[in-house]
Amino acid sequence: MASRSCLYTFIDLLLLVQFLSIRSVKGNDLPPPHDQCRRVNLGTGAELIQFSLNLFYLETTLFLYASTGKGIDAVAPDLVQGPLPIGVRIANLDNITRIIIEEFGLQGVGIIRAILNTKLVDPIKMPLVNLSVEEMEHFVHLALNATVLTPPFNAYANKLNFLPTSASITSLIRQYYVGILPHLANNNDLQLATSILGTVSARFGVFRTLLYQIADVTMSPYPFNVATLVDGIAKLINRHGLCGVKRRLIVALELGAEKRSSINLIPGDVNSLAFSRTEVEILRIVYGTGNATLPAGLFPRGVNGKIAEAIARGRLG
Ligand SMILES: *[C@@H]1O[C@H](CO)[C@@H](O)[C@H](O)[C@H]1NC(C)=O
Ligand SMILES: *[C@@H]1O[C@H](CO)[C@@H](O)[C@H](O)[C@H]1NC(C)=O
Ligand SMILES: *[C@@H]1O[C@H](CO)[C@@H](O)[C@H](O)[C@H]1NC(C)=O
Ligand SMILES: *[C@@H]1O[C@H](CO)[C@@H](O)[C@H](O)[C@H]1NC(C)=O
Repeated sequence: MASRSCLYTFIDLLLLVQFLSIRSVKGNDLPPPHDQCRRVNLGTGAELIQFSLNLFYLETTLFLYASTGKGIDAVAPDLVQGPLPIGVRIANLDNITRIIIEEFGLQGVGIIRAILNTKLVDPIKMPLVNLSVEEMEHFVHLALNATVLTPPFNAYANKLNFLPTSASITSLIRQYYVGILPHLANNNDLQLATSILGTVSARFGVFRTLLYQIADVTMSPYPFNVATLVDGIAKLINRHGLCGVKRRLIVALELGAEKRSSINLIPGDVNSLAFSRTEVEILRIVYGTGNATLPAGLFPRGVNGKIAEAIARGRLG
């Protein structure tokens, strides 16, 4: 248990300033091992989009439960089948944050419905997801390299705890769509994915703004601030993705985009392009094992769909 971590996904957030990073974060991140990071052709365009349903189910479940105490079923009965999520709960959020998160959840239902309605993509069940306090806490321990936090960390306890973890899921989805777009040959797939990427990017921008506003706030009763947690999570995600630094931390804020602005509104790599992540990288992160064929963490029994099966068969971990 100590070696897996949980929520990696949750954490990615940050992108807050990424491009500079390459220089400054070195110490804690692995160099990109190219054979593990190459995009291999794992499926058709529809199957690439199908894979993302797993991530949207996870994200939408978290956002709806955290903001309203109810899941996808309450908003859209019969849209999604599958086991009940483990441990997700209502978060203690201020009204504005709660309304924003609820809106993101409703938007998520809309995206899931849009994907399923195209009929291009075969529906998949929602996999078992583990969004328990303990799972998230485990992850935060790893991110902070701390064996114990007193009192135990509760991601649902308040906005400061909730935002870094939840924004990271949105960030991962965004990186996934950036990665698949160039590989969609069919026009319908491309249109659908482009419109989804637009929505997810807008959502990500809102998270970034919210995080900037609280970056310096101490996460009382703990001695660290939000930026420190974000920084730890980003490093953890990069370690588990195994493909180098893909998000930047608040600590680098002062460097700024293109060295011109202290706020980098559009995350990008050194050439100001958006980062991408492959299916295999995403699974290494959300499983928390650094191994795409070894499910655990947020998806204790793995994700569903054609690509997931191909990864399991091909042992591309
Ligand atoms: C937050 O929303 C609740 C329920 O809608 C309301 O009762 C409460 O007054 C609101 N709080 C603030 C500070 O607006
Ligand atoms: C959910 O995560 C917690 C913390 O890692 C773990 O103790 C629990 O067994 C997990 N539940 C399942 C069904 O995997
Ligand atoms: C975590 O803490 C241990 C012991 O304090 C230290 O040896 C190790 O280098 C730290 N790892 C990271 C990634 O900071
Ligand atoms: C990943 O996990 C699988 C078991 O599902 C194992 O066979 C494989 O050796 C692991 N890969 C690495 C690199 O540890």
